[in-house]
Amino acid sequence: MRVPMTAGNWKMNTTIREATDLVSEMRPLLDQIENIDKVICPPFISLAAVKELIRGSSIKLGAQNVYFEEEGAYTGEISPLMLADLCEFIIIGHSERRQYFNETGELVNKKILAVLRAGLKPILCIGERLEENEAGKTEEILAEQLRLSLAGVDYPRSLIIAYEPVWAIGTGKAANSKQTNETIGFIRCKIAKLYSDEIAQNMRILYGGSINADNIAEFVQQPEIDGALVGGASLKATEFVSIVKQTSQIKGR
Ligand code: 13P
Repeated sequence: MRVPMTAGNWKMNTTIREATDLVSEMRPLLDQIENIDKVICPPFISLAAVKELIRGSSIKLGAQNVYFEEEGAYTGEISPLMLADLCEFIIIGHSERRQYFNETGELVNKKILAVLRAGLKPILCIGERLEENEAGKTEEILAEQLRLSLAGVDYPRSLIIAYEPVWAIGTGKAANSKQTNETIGFIRCKIAKLYSDEIAQNMRILYGGSINADNIAEFVQQPEIDGALVGGASLKATEFVSIVKQTSQIKGR
């Protein structure tokens, strides 16, 4: 049985004060919800303050990016070792990083390897662009992203995958839930081929792209979808809590 998960990717939003206010509002509500992993991923600068605020709570913490070296002359970068004291999860390969910061499949792979080496849990984001989707190339693109990202990874037990079609992110146009279920089924099959049935059946695969409190239920009712990576709606306490609650109720049945 896979434990469902809701992860909030706050992206480049919130000052430290805003982040701590948001967490203070969410904490008592999230702590009442069981049988689900609740992860929040604030910006780097707020991780330490948020970590203090969620001490003793069931909320888990993630970062949004990392560099692959352990330390050294890499001005402005943050290493997995630095994050190991602060958080448990790290989002890797988000399409915004691929698009605006030129992250390639090879770089994503180095980051995945470094995160696993540091004992952290990567949330690997993959997804096709609109033109690739329209050209019927979704599965081909996803297979290639998986192959590149996971090169040299021999046992991805702690890996989580987030399927985020680029055209659904921040557009208000979520994917079709049944289609998404099939696509995530395809990703699970690829993982089974790359590794084993056991690893594939235990791996959590999330959907991300314009998820909100009104559409989460139809996604998590699908058997292959283990939860969501939520952007905009994770910045509103009551909406995020509602997404977590609905996921736990539906998947807990
Ligand atoms: P939105 O939920 O704002 O579409 O963002 C999704 C996302 O990119 C999560 O990583």
